[in-house]
Amino acid sequence: MPVKSYSIAESKALMDRYEAVLVRGYAPHKNLSGMLQKGYPVFIDRAEGARFWDVDGNGYLDYLMGFGPIVLGYDDPAVCEAVREQMARGTVYNTAHPRELKVAELLVDAIPGAEMVGFFIGGSAATSSAVRLSRAYTGREKVIRCGYHGWHDWARPGDVGVPEQVGALTLSVPYGDLDALEECLKAHDNQVACLVMETIQEAGPPEGFLQGCVDLAHASGALCVFDETKVGFRVAFGGAGEYYGVTPDIATFGKACCNGYPGSLIVGRKEVLGAEACRSVWMTATAHGDPLSLTATETVMGELKRRDGIAYQWKIGNRLMEGVNAVCEEAGLSYHLVGVGPMPRPQMDEGDQDRCMDMLRGCLARGFYLHPTHPMFLSLAHTEEDIEQTIEAIRESIADLDD
Ligand SMILES: Cc1ncc(COP(=O)(O)O)c(C=O)c1O
Repeated sequence: MPVKSYSIAESKALMDRYEAVLVRGYAPHKNLSGMLQKGYPVFIDRAEGARFWDVDGNGYLDYLMGFGPIVLGYDDPAVCEAVREQMARGTVYNTAHPRELKVAELLVDAIPGAEMVGFFIGGSAATSSAVRLSRAYTGREKVIRCGYHGWHDWARPGDVGVPEQVGALTLSVPYGDLDALEECLKAHDNQVACLVMETIQEAGPPEGFLQGCVDLAHASGALCVFDETKVGFRVAFGGAGEYYGVTPDIATFGKACCNGYPGSLIVGRKEVLGAEACRSVWMTATAHGDPLSLTATETVMGELKRRDGIAYQWKIGNRLMEGVNAVCEEAGLSYHLVGVGPMPRPQMDEGDQDRCMDMLRGCLARGFYLHPTHPMFLSLAHTEEDIEQTIEAIRESIADLDD
C-alpha cells in the first residue's frame, strides 16, 4: 500500500499555543512535546469505534484507547444510549440512587472476593482510598507500592511538591521479587499498613507471585491491595486477581470499568471494608457514585458478558502479539510485544531504537497508531481484519526501512 503524504502541521501549530496556557503537570503522561518530536500527532479532533482522527484530518486505528478506558469502542451505541437516557434524568444527585446499589450488587456477583464496593472518580482516588482504609484498619502508616498508582502524595514519594515526611511513609519494591518484598516488610516490621501491587507489569506476574504478595503481606499483619486499574474488565472482570485465582483484601478499578467516563471503584472483603475502624474513613467527593459513570459501568458489564468481550480481547490481542512478533523477528527488527493479550506491551532494544521508531512512523503514515512505550489496549471495536491489517502495515513499514 503506497503511503499518502502525511502531515501533522496543525498539531504542531496548536502545541505552540497550548504550552502558553496549560499548566504543565496536569497531564504529563501524554508527553505531548516528546511525542510531537517523535512524529506523533498530539491533538485529536474526534474518535469513533477503534479509530480517531487528528486535527490534520489523518485517521488512525488506535491501540492506546485513551490510555486504557475505551474497552467497547469510543462511541459504543449501548453506552451512548444508556448514558444519554441517564443524563436526561440527572447527572449528580443529593442522595443515594438505586443504580448505585444495583451496580454494587452486580460487582459483588461478578468479582471473586468482592463483598463490599465503593465508587470514586479517577483511578488515583480509588487507590488512595484503599491506602487510607488500610491505614485505618491496621493502625499503621507505611505503605509499600509497586507500579504506578496515580498522582496523589502517597503514590509519588520524592516528587516535586510532595512533602518529604509524607514521601517517607511510602516504600517501593521491584515487580516480581518476593524476596525483596519480604525483606522490606521485615525492615519495617509492624509498620506497614498495606502493599499496593499493580498486578500486571512487564511480561506479567511470575508463577505464584500474586499469591506470594497476599501471603507475605498477611504474615506481617498488613493488607494486600491489588491495583487493577489497567487490567480490570480486561484480562477478567476482576482483573489479574480473578485471572490468576488470587484474592486480595481490596482491589481497585478504573479505566475500562466506565468505557471513558471518569468513575472508578474499589471492591474488597467485608471484614476489612465493613470494619468499625473503616466506617468513619472520609473519602468523599461531590461526584463520587455519579449516575453517568455508574450507567456506563452497568452497560460495560452487560456488553462484555453479552458479547463474550473478555475472551474476545484475549483472542485478538494474542493474534496481534503473535503476528507482530513473527513479522519483526523475521525481519530482524527488535520491536516486539510482551505481556498479556488484552494489554500487549511494546519493547525494543536500545541500539535498535531508530529503526523501530522509523517503523512506527511508517505505521502512523499508514493510519495505525502504535505507542512506542506504553502498553497497548484492545477493544471490542477492533475487528479481526483490523488486526491482520496492522500486522501487514508493520510488514510494509519494515520493508520501507531498507529503501
Ligand atoms: C495501575 C494504575 N493505577 C492507578 C492509576 C491512576 O488512575 P487515574 O489516572 O485515573 O487517576 C493508573 C493510571 O494510569 C494506573 O495505570
